[in-house]
Amino acid sequence: MTRHLITSALPYINGVKHLGNLIGSMLPSDLYARYLRARGEEVLFICATDEHGTPAELAAREKGQNVAEFCAEQHQVQADLGAAFDLSFDYFGRSSSPQNRELTQHFGDILFDNGYIEERVTRQVFSIDDDRFLPDRYVEGTCPHCGYERARGDQCENCTRLLDPTDLINPRSAVSGSSNLEVRESKHLFLLQSKLADEIRVWVNRHQDWPVLVSSIALKWLDEGLNDRGITRDLKWGVPVGREGMEDKVYYVWFDAPIEYIAATKEWADQDPSNRDWKSWWYEAEDVRYVQVMAKDNVPFHTVTFPGTILGSREPWKMVDFIKGFNWLNYYGGKFSTSQKRGIFMSDAIDMLPSDYWRYYLLANAPETSDTSFTWDGFAGTVNKDLADTFGNFVNRTLKFCASKFGKALPEGGAIGVREEELAKALRERIDAYNVHMQDMQIRKAMQELRAIWVMGNEYLTEAAPWTVFKQDPDAAAASLRIAINLIRIFAILGAPVIPNTAAKVSDALGLNLTAGDWIEGDVMEELIRLAPGHAFEIPDVLFRKISDEEVAGWEERFGGKE
Ligand code: 2FM
Ligand code: ZN
Repeated sequence: MTRHLITSALPYINGVKHLGNLIGSMLPSDLYARYLRARGEEVLFICATDEHGTPAELAAREKGQNVAEFCAEQHQVQADLGAAFDLSFDYFGRSSSPQNRELTQHFGDILFDNGYIEERVTRQVFSIDDDRFLPDRYVEGTCPHCGYERARGDQCENCTRLLDPTDLINPRSAVSGSSNLEVRESKHLFLLQSKLADEIRVWVNRHQDWPVLVSSIALKWLDEGLNDRGITRDLKWGVPVGREGMEDKVYYVWFDAPIEYIAATKEWADQDPSNRDWKSWWYEAEDVRYVQVMAKDNVPFHTVTFPGTILGSREPWKMVDFIKGFNWLNYYGGKFSTSQKRGIFMSDAIDMLPSDYWRYYLLANAPETSDTSFTWDGFAGTVNKDLADTFGNFVNRTLKFCASKFGKALPEGGAIGVREEELAKALRERIDAYNVHMQDMQIRKAMQELRAIWVMGNEYLTEAAPWTVFKQDPDAAAASLRIAINLIRIFAILGAPVIPNTAAKVSDALGLNLTAGDWIEGDVMEELIRLAPGHAFEIPDVLFRKISDEEVAGWEERFGGKE
């Protein structure tokens, strides 16, 4: 049987992530992991914080902390937020782990031995006042392409061109502001991607089922020609290269970050006394299907650079089978931005409303085929209509009415008829479509089916109208309430990957004990009569509250919506 390995792109350590980061990788990968577990599949779902690189060092410096301390603290913050959003990682690791150091050095060494890494002498910016080299974001200056005066050494934020620190005009140190800089020679390791390009292209072309967003980015990079890339830096924070003559150098963050997918799996095994087998997930893992989830800016590193690392190792490491890529979630048409603190951050969101509100809204509006915009109006509309009116209200009004007329157990009497047969047939079709979209990770389409299933329940109840039928024909009312309560069970099972907390509340109220592998398979009619007369239930508190216009106005004000 196939085992499923799922990784979410690793959130960067430099601060709390925003909703764009959440829907760009962590949440959709969680949805997929939860769905597969619910279908009884064996899943390993891995994530970690990405802790190296200059942004981590600069963020630590800004907080007046030493970088290791900063990372340890921020890792915990992100782990706690992940748990608050019910992200069901089997393990949430750290790229600064000893396991990642060992594996990164292993890949560096073997690529060197295989002739895919070589040493080259390069020109690097050195700050005389700071007595250190200034790689990447440690230098700021004027962009040679667009004249933007605050361009960073790795990239110009204004025109998005990739830069080398020595390209900047009027460079200055981001550490001290000093412009007392010079260019010094320094020996670095280069990954010879040009030698691997043909092989990478053949591998990319083998994956015709990848979304167009992903394959088009991969092919664009390959078509533009792969340059050999410097994969080491003159820094102390990072994975040490560990080669003679390179004592003061570490690997570049984008070299070690994807290796952390493997290393985090080893962390998962090492921290467990039962001696889990991490390697069978990654090495000669023919029975594993590996899915990666990420936003579009990460695609080149996962379709070209990291595959180059693996192919060049000439070792049988597992390569990704399917990549789900996402466009941007924007905030009122502009970008969410960590550095500019623009948009809604996970910590703010979870203080405002429980995770299921955000999970459903974000998944239903996932930026799959194009960038999408978060608006408070849109958020309130989705919550009020789909979650409060369609789903929550169905559960509450059904259980309350049943309790008031028949007591808190499924009532006896009546029989199923044509309406129920038709409902079962239509539900089967919807559930089949829901399964197909979930398996394909067509997330918006899957959410549309889920919503349509909830709507069907409401329509059934409106037509059966137990509240009016009850007076003349209590047996008929009882029969339709039994169906409606069974629908609640079906909704909880199907909704669990999306709104796990609420699904658990509903399943508790119905006295169910749902476990992995519980799904709506086979004959839906049987599922509609599964909970039999006499089965007791409780009435849960309101599952989703409505969001008022005043709240929307207040949030727009507080988070800077509108303009
Ligand atoms: O874009 C980012 O936030 C990166 N930290 C993603 C890394 S994904 C993987 F390669 F580690
Ligand atoms: Zn520029």
